[in-house]
Amino acid sequence: MMLTVENLHKSYQVGQTTYEVLKGISLEVEKGEFVAVMGPSGSGKTTLLNCISCYIPADCGEIILGDRPLAALDETALAAVRDKQLGFVFQDFLLLDGLTVRQNILLPAIIGGSAGPAAETRADQLCQVFGITPIQEKYPAEISGGEKQRTAVARALINNPLLILADEPTGNLDSRSSRAVIAAFERAKQSLSATIFMVTHDSLAASFCDRVIMLQDGVIWRVLEKGAQPRDAFQDRLLDVIRDMGRG
Ligand SMILES: Nc1ncnc2c1ncn2[C@@H]1O[C@H](COP(=O)(O)OP(=O)(O)OP(=O)(O)O)[C@@H](O)[C@H]1O
Ligand SMILES: [Mg+2]
Repeated sequence: MMLTVENLHKSYQVGQTTYEVLKGISLEVEKGEFVAVMGPSGSGKTTLLNCISCYIPADCGEIILGDRPLAALDETALAAVRDKQLGFVFQDFLLLDGLTVRQNILLPAIIGGSAGPAAETRADQLCQVFGITPIQEKYPAEISGGEKQRTAVARALINNPLLILADEPTGNLDSRSSRAVIAAFERAKQSLSATIFMVTHDSLAASFCDRVIMLQDGVIWRVLEKGAQPRDAFQDRLLDVIRDMGRG
């Protein structure tokens, strides 16, 4: 299993009040799976992602990445996990304007201390997989939105992470750009066996996933498997369940 979350609890303290946001989340993600987390605003999706990202400590429960329980790690070790074993795709992609496409892609390798010939070769491979070889010496201001998205996904993959984490990667995009992000994730899954865990509000984006975890009020409300059904049927199914959730 690439990721195991067991009975995860997380609350925030605001003044004298404790707000319980995650109330016992358990889930597993296998290598090569593309999983979405959906749920209403405030249901705890970003909190869950931030716990898995080692950005915030959970109150109790376990997160196991690959075969390493994160609870046992100190700050330095957690930072290393973040830098080397996780890949991040942010809502606004956060490409650095002063770096070329290729330098942006290589940045996590530099941060993770693995810059060198192997990282250069991996960058070549990623540029090829995502069709950005011809633009790798350009700067972000000189490339299209779709090219930026593919660059961001390539960057998330440079360290060959155990898991890619994405919080609403299509949140700010029109439908065509959203499709480009999802296509890049599918490519990552198919060509590189990448494992992707994506928070999204977008039923279209979620319908490309193998599995969709529906969160409500800090608990897992439903899990839907795509299985053999066509994408559009799965999307209809998701929309039905989201409507039910609104009623419940
Ligand atoms: N740092 C914080 N301190 C206190 N409360 C917080 C903090 N971060 C989040 N919360 C609260 O926790 C709950 C869950 O927040 P979270 O960001 O995980 O929701 P979400 O499902 O990602 O929502 P959205 O879809 O709007 O992004 C919300 O009620 C939010 O107000
Ligand atoms: Mg959120």
